[in-house]
Amino acid sequence: MENSFPVQEIHEGRAKIITPRLDLFRGSGETYRPRLTPVFYNPKMKLNRDLSILLANTMNKMLNRDLNICEPLSGTGVMGIRYALECRVKKIVLNDISSIAYQFIKRNVKLNNIEDIAQVYNEDASILLLKLASKKLKFDIIDIDPFGSPVEFIEPALKALRNKGILCVTATDLIPLCGIKIEACERKYLGKPLKSYYCREIALRLLINMINTKALQHSILIEPLISYVYEHYIRTYLRIFRGALKANKALKMRGIIMHCFKCDFRIIVEGMVVYKEKCPYCNGELTYSGPLWIGPIVSRDFCVNMIQNNEELNLENKKKISKLLNTLLEESTLPPTFYNVDYICSKIKKKPPKTRDIIHSLQKLNYEAGPTHIDPKGFKTNAPINVIKDVINKL
Ligand SMILES: C[S@@+](CC[C@H](N)C(=O)[O-])C[C@H]1O[C@@H](n2cnc3c(N)ncnc32)[C@H](O)[C@@H]1O
Repeated sequence: MENSFPVQEIHEGRAKIITPRLDLFRGSGETYRPRLTPVFYNPKMKLNRDLSILLANTMNKMLNRDLNICEPLSGTGVMGIRYALECRVKKIVLNDISSIAYQFIKRNVKLNNIEDIAQVYNEDASILLLKLASKKLKFDIIDIDPFGSPVEFIEPALKALRNKGILCVTATDLIPLCGIKIEACERKYLGKPLKSYYCREIALRLLINMINTKALQHSILIEPLISYVYEHYIRTYLRIFRGALKANKALKMRGIIMHCFKCDFRIIVEGMVVYKEKCPYCNGELTYSGPLWIGPIVSRDFCVNMIQNNEELNLENKKKISKLLNTLLEESTLPPTFYNVDYICSKIKKKPPKTRDIIHSLQKLNYEAGPTHIDPKGFKTNAPINVIKDVINKL
């Protein structure tokens, strides 16, 4: 393969990967800008890739067999090649629409000696997934990692997944999802975002609801296993179950969040009807967000398995992953949305106490309360806003 640009070899996990020379692609401020490179590689996504390796290993253990995995938006191939080298894999399908990326993937597959289990394509991801599904080639894991929104790839991926397979989905279009471009979000995610301090949790719930809407149409139930926000992206891992009766359960997971910007009250309403009343605490206007996923976004049992397996694997981001998963475990049974200590304290004119102290005080009053991985100054609770303010005032 001849390149018109210089390349380098990097090492990530057990993989050796040829990438364009990263130091040649800097934006203003001298920071590396992966979108400027002829083939995409972002070292900042290593944590995401480590977590995916952990998930696939967890699945290996649960199923006690090798997996068929498809990564239809591969870039250099780093994720797919790592799956092949660091998990028990029967077949790995890698693909990219860019012909330069395709050349890099082929070269990297050869460099890592996985030609016997790897299939490499140069197609549109949706078309490839539909072709593979029509040949009855179904996958245990499909990993969708696009530029921006994953919307267009969801239905083809659902078709190409095995029953009980896992769909991994990243979204980086946080500008619409966090309420800066409302119409773009409504168009793509079929729900209204909320420009609030907890907008990134709303973003996750809008993403999952969009996937649920498509899954329901194909009589598929989705079960979120792990969902998180990290730096510039959100990511969810969902297990799917085929069957209309099973899928019906997810009809109840769609809802609306009503929020009062005056006093920070919010309420989660099941169903698609917008709540018209005024805020019951301050009589302020209520703003709605949704429809979005109001069910759990993390499976407690799966999270426990991941935490145990993380101790056994020696991933580069082991400590960060352990911290993230342990916080997700605490969050897993708590209600949607969270409160921000600084915001509430600015409203009640009080010096902010420690987040942990607020959580303990609420728990002492028999409310559910715990942290959120999204915001170190955030906490989740089922206590009403007046109780939260009383508790903070007394600290
Ligand atoms: C964010 S990058 C993938 C990064 C990769 N997963 C990793 O871990 O490094 C998205 C890739 O999708 C490719 N792409 C964009 N649209 C596509 C499409 N419709 N079908 C297939 N590939 C596509 C781009 O060329 C790009 O390489």
